[in-house]
Amino acid sequence: MRIGVLTGGGDCPGLNAVIRAIVRRGIDGHGHAIIGFRDGWRGPLENAYEELTIESTRGILPRGGTILRSSRTNPFKRDDGPERVREHMETLNLNGLIAIGGEDTLGAAARLNGDHGLPVIGVPKTIDNDLGGTDMTFGFDTAVQIATDAIDRLHTTAESHNRVMIVEVMGRHAGWIALYSGLAGGADVILIPERPFDIDEVCRLIRRRHSRGRFFSIVVVAEGALPKEGSMETVAAEEDEFGHARLGGIGQRLEQEIESRTGYESRATVLGHIQRGGTPTAFDRVLATRLGVAAIDAANEGKWGVMPALRGTRIELVALSEAVADLRTVAPEDYAAAEVFFG
Ligand code: F6P
Repeated sequence: MRIGVLTGGGDCPGLNAVIRAIVRRGIDGHGHAIIGFRDGWRGPLENAYEELTIESTRGILPRGGTILRSSRTNPFKRDDGPERVREHMETLNLNGLIAIGGEDTLGAAARLNGDHGLPVIGVPKTIDNDLGGTDMTFGFDTAVQIATDAIDRLHTTAESHNRVMIVEVMGRHAGWIALYSGLAGGADVILIPERPFDIDEVCRLIRRRHSRGRFFSIVVVAEGALPKEGSMETVAAEEDEFGHARLGGIGQRLEQEIESRTGYESRATVLGHIQRGGTPTAFDRVLATRLGVAAIDAANEGKWGVMPALRGTRIELVALSEAVADLRTVAPEDYAAAEVFFG
């Protein structure tokens, strides 16, 4: 068989581990050829590719980013997008395509398979951990570790200077990174997109800490967190090809609001893409490798329209359509454990 592979959307620690697993298992285990498309969906749209070999994918397991590079190209926003993907897959004699990505990349993969009959398999990735169908995505564990390290470091300055430190982490629709790093780092307030926050309540919690003799606080906020309507102004942002706003800025707004309302010196730190950079944790390397092996095994059996997913401790195949139907967001009971430590 000849199988294409691409990485789409934001990069994520562990992408190279998936590519390596697909190549190693595909070539050594099944005798297939693996074609790597460049820059996400731009690759099959514009026929930009290279053949991947065991040699060309050596040494990439611990490397962050993606050797195939990535983009936020949406094939459904390009003229004749699905037809061009089909045409280039035919020119290259491909039997199928493995798309490694998050909600947008896999959403496009599900439509190309469901509506256009293209033989596509998805592999779930995103540091946000918000994909349905799987208990966890690779990249999340690394992002949480990076954010926790940052919170630990900010703690020392917060305590030395009696400051409120606001740490803005990623998480567009789901607050998993904020919740986990906040729990691990001992945050005093955690704000997530799933629960619009009340700025008065945030300030009350911080004041309560002061009244108990703790003169510093750590607030962890997901970039997608929003104040309750009318309670605080926010900034509008531009959108990408999938209609997602370019987020960032809530940390800065909280810094101003908290300082002006409480009088306590406040400072915001935006972790941004640092959370997506560098080497994946051992957990993410293992998960990514297992998903890559399962994806190429599914392709070998001609099982298209599926996605290997982590269910409990096992890797199982689920329908791509199921995986992109609903986002996995933070439930009230997940948040409750963090609230115990607020204020
Ligand atoms: O979806 C992953 C993610 O890291 C989000 O948390 C974030 O909103 C977005 O990507 C940022 O993307 P970009 O790389 O385009 O700034």
